[in-house]
Amino acid sequence: MASLRLGFFVAAAVVSAALMPPSAVAQLRPYYYSSICPNLEVIVRSSVQQSMAQSPISAPAALRLFFHDCAVRGCDASIMIVNSNGDDEWRNPDNQSLKPEGFQVILNAKAAVDSDPRCQYKVSCADIMALAARESISQSGGPYYEVELGRYDGRVSTKASVVLPHANFNLDQLNSYFSGLGLSQSEMIALSGGHTLGAADCPFFQYRIGTDPTMDPNFASQLNATCSSNPTNGFAFLDPSPVTFDNAFFRNLQGGKGLLGSDQVLYSDTRSRGTVNYYASNQGAFFGDFVAAITKLGRVGVKTAATGEIRRDCRFPN
Ligand code: HEM
Repeated sequence: MASLRLGFFVAAAVVSAALMPPSAVAQLRPYYYSSICPNLEVIVRSSVQQSMAQSPISAPAALRLFFHDCAVRGCDASIMIVNSNGDDEWRNPDNQSLKPEGFQVILNAKAAVDSDPRCQYKVSCADIMALAARESISQSGGPYYEVELGRYDGRVSTKASVVLPHANFNLDQLNSYFSGLGLSQSEMIALSGGHTLGAADCPFFQYRIGTDPTMDPNFASQLNATCSSNPTNGFAFLDPSPVTFDNAFFRNLQGGKGLLGSDQVLYSDTRSRGTVNYYASNQGAFFGDFVAAITKLGRVGVKTAATGEIRRDCRFPN
């Protein structure tokens, strides 16, 4: 009897999936906007280029923003929403270290897109975020890849929905977090290579100095000097070439010079060390795997016309 009922439910699920309208399943594809907004990619490229010329923080901040958006409620630009009651994702303590420059990259690109009459109010903020992340990577010397498009913007953003990985996570915690996004250990390691760009503030790593035996002692004394001379505003780069997207991040981990505990653990834990060594010795392999992983990250929780909208102002639902 139980198996009969199970069989019925399986059959019913198969039938109802087959009957689902196509719009209920997100269909991302490159060139989604090619007839709607033919110059989209050129417009976003030049806008991001201008933002990057204005500040070296723009590219790292825009890349991190894309991760923090996709990881919470999916890639729906909910991280951009400003709610008048103060209950929104960006005001969660875990998002307070996101740099304003990253938000500005998106607002500038959206303004540039909307200034083209063919494109006005037709391109989602979520897609602009995905394109801006690609531009931040490729214009920093990293890989260029086709970005899948066709996301709709979410209408909801709350502090309580924010669950993000922490800099003191061990490998099991990292794996369990990323598997919740449908990403494997090697995809998590490739994506951690995003830390080839940018910096971290002292509170995220200071606790490791003098206590974490996996940290190189010379690196530890440098960091100690940085943070003790400026305990509130001190920061250090996540790898030695913080404006260049390369595999130096992984070579750095081999030398015990990873800044965050969650980065260094990828080398110190023998279950992930092989992948770190592979990327450290083969930048092409890192780039290829990073592109595949960020493309997969870009599919997380994507909204459709039925569940989202094209926001006119990225800060406010329509
Ligand atoms: C694996 C889990 C991760 C943890 C625990 C983590 C944690 C952190 C922390 C603590 C910072 C420093 C924030 C600050 O001081 O302002 C940071 C910065 C950054 N993260 Fe991650 N992150 C993770 C994954 C990722 C992923 C998947 C990406 C993108 C692919 C990414 C991109 C960045 C970038 C680019 C920065 C530099 C931001 C800047 O300079 O403004 N992170 N991350």
